[in-house]
Amino acid sequence: MNWGLENRLSRIIKPETGHALMLAVDHGYFLGPTSKLEVPRETIKPLLPYADALMLTRGVLRTSVDPDASTPVVLRVSGGTSIIGAALSNEGITTGFEEAIRLNASAVAMSIFVGTEHERQTLLNLADLVSEGERYGIPVLAVTAVGKELEKRDSRFLSLCCRIAAELGAHFVKTYYCEDFEKVVDSCPVPVVIAGGPKLDTFKDTLELVHEAIERGAVGVDMGRNIWQSDHPVAAIRAVRSVVHEGASADEAAKLFESAVSGE
Ligand code: R5P
Repeated sequence: MNWGLENRLSRIIKPETGHALMLAVDHGYFLGPTSKLEVPRETIKPLLPYADALMLTRGVLRTSVDPDASTPVVLRVSGGTSIIGAALSNEGITTGFEEAIRLNASAVAMSIFVGTEHERQTLLNLADLVSEGERYGIPVLAVTAVGKELEKRDSRFLSLCCRIAAELGAHFVKTYYCEDFEKVVDSCPVPVVIAGGPKLDTFKDTLELVHEAIERGAVGVDMGRNIWQSDHPVAAIRAVRSVVHEGASADEAAKLFESAVSGE
């Protein structure tokens, strides 16, 4: 047993429910000032009390989150590419463990790009990161990235990605929800959280996505745009939280959302 690693992971995946609501605000590392995340501090501050963990880069953490915040940090440590560059998949490791420890990170996160020309480099980066993370007791979250190719998000592809990440030692995996999602979870021996992806047509769609994912075995979400691009982000995160931690249905959470919006 790696006590420190288990302890850090339990700050993120809450032992009380076995679930996690992670708030992803790392998008700027390749997208720049994404809509509604232009001033990260303003986006993050009101949502922080409702998040079990905050996923972000060291730059946004140091500039936009007060150091007395008690929310655990999942530090994005891969990057080196941009949305206008040649290949989003060409990521390297941008932040080392000395920095992760200095920033009191509870986990580090990196993307793997399976099926791309940079598959090998990103998978070897993951394996190295896991070995080093285990030395320091810091868990590694592998993100099964698809870059601009959102149509890749089916259960066959995502099962392959999640399983490879787990085989290389990732302690938990972040992927997308998809049809037959249980196949992805069942063939992945470590906990799975889902990203939300681009903003969906309605917030009810988001709640249904989260509910289905939890029903089919996800331990939680690591969600960004469908929360903070909402016109009512605090009401949105509270509603998502009720699904993740309280077993609310999408309908019940939608009612909670409406009543929180009317009380704003
Ligand atoms: C993408 O690579 C980033 O890691 C995001 O954190 C991730 O996509 C989750 O955010 P969203 O719910 O907006 O998709």
